Amino acid sequence: MYSNPKIIIINGPNLNLLGKREPEYYGNRTLNDIKESCIEYAAKKNIELMFEQSNDESTIIEMIQAASENDGIIINAGAYTHTSIAIHDALKSSKSPAIEVHLSNIHKREEFRHKSYISGVVDGIIIGLGDQGYTLAIDAVTKIMNERNS
Ligand code: DQA
Repeated sequence: MYSNPKIIIINGPNLNLLGKREPEYYGNRTLNDIKESCIEYAAKKNIELMFEQSNDESTIIEMIQAASENDGIIINAGAYTHTSIAIHDALKSSKSPAIEVHLSNIHKREEFRHKSYISGVVDGIIIGLGDQGYTLAIDAVTKIMNERNS
């Protein structure tokens, strides 16, 4: 069993506006509310969790590059999901287990959201389940980390 697992949750552009931004898609909770829930959830499982947000593509790429192969990555890249070959390449080069999360069901929305540059280079995808997607992703990535290290 792998000890001291570390997970980084990376949130992309405009997710800092959760709570006021299109609540019909993203709910009423702020990113800070979600952060607190995730940290509490992870702490109960003895997992060290980092929860980050950036509106900047290069910062997101640096966070992916900084994760070690034993760390788990959970990423909601926001609109960069649909545009960023650079984030695709960073995840492809990364050896960390990774899960893609979206609060809203991107396949029920505009066509430009149906394409994800990330889905093909991550271990799994959790889409459309609101903020519970993050805690589901913590469980999923932890399981992959444990399996890889057992
Ligand atoms: C999102 C979906 C994206 O299409 C959008 O650009 C976001 C949020 C989601 O969590 O549902 O910023 O990633």
